[in-house]
Amino acid sequence: MDGAKFAELRIDGKAFNFPIIIGSEGEKAIDISNLRKETGYITLDPSFANTGACCSEITYIDGERGILRYRGIPIEELAEKRLFIEVAYLLLHGNLPDENQYKQFSILLNEHSLLHEDMRHLFDGFPRGSHPMHIMSTMLNSMATFYPNVDTLSLSEDIDVTATRLISTFRTMAAFAYKKSIGQPPVYPRPDLTYCANFLNMMFDSPVNPYTIDAEIVEVMNLLFILYADHEQNCSTTTVRTIGSAQVNLYATISAGVSALSGPLHGGANQAVIEMLSKIRSGGYSVDQFIEMAKNKNNPVKLMGFGHRVYKNYDPRAKIIKEATVRILKKLDIKDTLLDIAMELESKALSDSYFVERKLYPNVDFYSGILYRALGFPTNMFTVLFALGRLPGWIAHWKEMVSDKNSKIVRPRQIYTGRTLTHLK
Ligand code: ACO
Repeated sequence: MDGAKFAELRIDGKAFNFPIIIGSEGEKAIDISNLRKETGYITLDPSFANTGACCSEITYIDGERGILRYRGIPIEELAEKRLFIEVAYLLLHGNLPDENQYKQFSILLNEHSLLHEDMRHLFDGFPRGSHPMHIMSTMLNSMATFYPNVDTLSLSEDIDVTATRLISTFRTMAAFAYKKSIGQPPVYPRPDLTYCANFLNMMFDSPVNPYTIDAEIVEVMNLLFILYADHEQNCSTTTVRTIGSAQVNLYATISAGVSALSGPLHGGANQAVIEMLSKIRSGGYSVDQFIEMAKNKNNPVKLMGFGHRVYKNYDPRAKIIKEATVRILKKLDIKDTLLDIAMELESKALSDSYFVERKLYPNVDFYSGILYRALGFPTNMFTVLFALGRLPGWIAHWKEMVSDKNSKIVRPRQIYTGRTLTHLK
């Protein structure tokens, strides 16, 4: 980074200089950390669309050109050539693991794959039909009671052990939550299976209907988790950094990230896309009517799975998922009319001036739900799958933040617009 240049700000005829920061890919920022101290002014940027909250070495996005890289490596290369746990290691440690590091990481993941047995009883307390994202955030929060001393000040174990336990047990917890929701006994993790194969087996194996592990399905699960693994300062990652900045324990911090992700404008969009496509299929609306509704500013309806705060081009993840969806549906010989509707929606929206002018393209969630359905996942598990993939990213950001000696508690300011001094009568 280069801090040698300055931006000049003039207020009431007086000039102030603020350092210009340039990132390794040329992104430019004005460092206004001393703005209030020097000028008495603050910046106002609701939703933080123009605010850089930190410098980070983890993920690079160029939204105009549709570029996504983890630790400098293009997402397309990682998705094609690597396993999810290698990518998780890359995000957490900065480099892809060598043979020995991979072996050690796999051993740790296996050792920490079991849930504390007493946690199983907690599942019994949730009402029938509870959304698995709510169950997941509650279960994560409870982990600090089973594995205490995980706040940053009293962290009595290595951060990497806690991180590995989270990545491993989250998968077990997600499968247990699903099994509980359908009234089946939980399936325990197996040491002979890889991360994704183990997850699929815990989800779909049953004492009366053994699950057959298919290498191509395991591969696509790896691909999906890799695509979701990080996306720099999105809403849930910002939540993780914000909560973590108060030195809250890592489990509660990640639980907050899961809650943020559950919203339909964020990770919940993959479920909302399927609900939207199903409504169109059941005759609720035609594709054209839905597009008109999404364009109407008096109607709160949006074209779910379209648009992105950062991408003003085709989301590179959506491209890869669309291709995988077509391939897997063909392999499994599934004819899903939701895919036809999605393709028609995409093609009509991309040639409609409303979407073209606003640079609204399919995002990561537009096709993912159709693929999850084909793999056998129920709709309410889609966002849990997103969370499973995003976990290494959240932890990597938390780790980067707590290791930064200059990081402080997050505390934005405001411009007060309420009543001026008003005395009681
Ligand atoms: N359908 C219709 N119009 C849209 C959509 C959409 N999906 N997305 C944005 N627009 C419109 C806005 O209404 C706005 O119109 P205007 O300029 O006339 O006021 C314009 O496009 C610009 O959009 P913004 O509101 O500035 O976009 P913002 O960055 O605030 O929101 C978001 C991004 C939340 C993703 C939005 O595009 C959206 O709600 N999409 C649908 C939900 C979705 O798919 N979410 C998943 C995002 S990816 C993720 O989190 C994993």
